[in-house]
Order: sequence, then structure tokens, then C-alpha cells
Amino acid sequence: MIGRLNHVAIAVPDLDAAIATYRDTLGADVGPKQDEPDHGVTVVFITLPNTKIELLYPLGENSPITGFLAKNPAGGIHHICYEVKDIVAARDHLVASGARVLGDIKTGAHGKPVVFLHPKDFYGTLTELEQTWP
Ligand code: CO
Repeated sequence: MIGRLNHVAIAVPDLDAAIATYRDTLGADVGPKQDEPDHGVTVVFITLPNTKIELLYPLGENSPITGFLAKNPAGGIHHICYEVKDIVAARDHLVASGARVLGDIKTGAHGKPVVFLHPKDFYGTLTELEQTWP
């Protein structure tokens, strides 16, 4: 059911420092900062030959990243995202399989439908599914 790894998301305590690390130290193709007020994050996508890295930084008062950074002050891997062809079918299959789906299908940072799965059902890893084509 799952396809390619779309991205690995890393929460960072200092977005400009993380941009400099990926651009200058690692020599990666770093995109612009994008504020996503609906998700409470500022994101930066880093394009690698085979996948992307999504840097996450808190935006606003109720950011889901604030608590994560309180527990992981140096930053850390926040979630991974797999591509699926049909997100409704994937969600229904997961629910039928007993996995906990967190909330509804929403529009993610790429403008595509996404849904999150509970980390306790996936070995401690918050897992995002993204439908990458209509
Ligand atoms: Co993501």
C-alpha cells in the first residue's frame, strides 16, 4: 500500500541555523521558508535526489512542535511520510487493521491530502501518509 518515502521531518530549535547546516555544511538544495498557519509550523523543504527533508519550526501559540522541542531541545526526527495512491482507501484499510488514525484527512504543506498515524502503532514513529497524485 505505501509507496516512496516522501520526506523525513525534523523539528529544529533554530530554523536559520538548520538552514545554514543543510545548505553550507551538507551542501543540500534548501528551499524557502513557508509559514503554514493552519498547521502551526514554518517549514523548509530540502530536496535530495531520492526524497526530501522537511525542517519544522513552531509558528504561533499552539504549535504541535512546541511540546516536541520541549522534550527534545536539540531537535529531532518528528515524523516520516510515505506516499499512497488513494488516501481514503489507505485510511480505511488502516482503521480496519486496528491502527489509530489521528484526526481527519487534511491538506498538508505540499497542498496534497495527508493523514497522521499514531506513533505507538508504528514503533515509536509518528507516520504521515500523503496522496501524491489525484
Ligand atoms: Co510531513
